Amino acid sequence: MKLILNNLKDTKKFGKKLAQISKPDDIFCLKGNLGSGKTTIARAFINHFTKNDNIISPTFPMLITYEYKNNIIWHYDMYRLNNPSDVWNLSLEEALNNGIILIEWPEIIEHLLPNKKIDIIIKDIKEDKRSVEIKGRIELLKEFEGFNTA
Ligand SMILES: Nc1ncnc2c1ncn2[C@@H]1O[C@H](COP(=O)(O)OP(=O)(O)OP(=O)(O)O)[C@@H](O)[C@H]1O
Ligand SMILES: [Mg+2]
Repeated sequence: MKLILNNLKDTKKFGKKLAQISKPDDIFCLKGNLGSGKTTIARAFINHFTKNDNIISPTFPMLITYEYKNNIIWHYDMYRLNNPSDVWNLSLEEALNNGIILIEWPEIIEHLLPNKKIDIIIKDIKEDKRSVEIKGRIELLKEFEGFNTA
């Protein structure tokens, strides 16, 4: 099932909602073309926990961490990663053991991630409109009442 995000506001709302229903050790793979809204979702997600208005895209560096309460969010962007094994130099092992992981452009390291990972797939980009699909933990979809479905 796909949800429809009609504008930037919807996408931010989606990111916040995802944060609200996330578990402290979830792994979210944010997939979609350049400019589809991966960082926008990550930003809204992180903002929910940290109230941090200065969340930048981690393209350089490829990892930014955010600590809050007793947990940590690991925000990765693998767009510029050339060799999957380089991700171990970016604390992936530690990240897998502790905290929430958000990964933009996860494809290159997907085989290194456990099965519990949840895919967030952004598509059908038309001006300000996008669709988003959640794959992995199907019951999460029930939580998105109020969003339009395709
Ligand atoms: N419904 C929408 N959801 C998300 N972004 C939108 C939407 N409508 C328009 N935009 C615009 O699209 C852009 C999305 O940028 P964002 O950095 O989130 O994309 P990204 O997927 O992280 O790209 P990249 O692959 O370069 O990391 C922003 O400029 C934003 O204003
Ligand atoms: Mg981005």
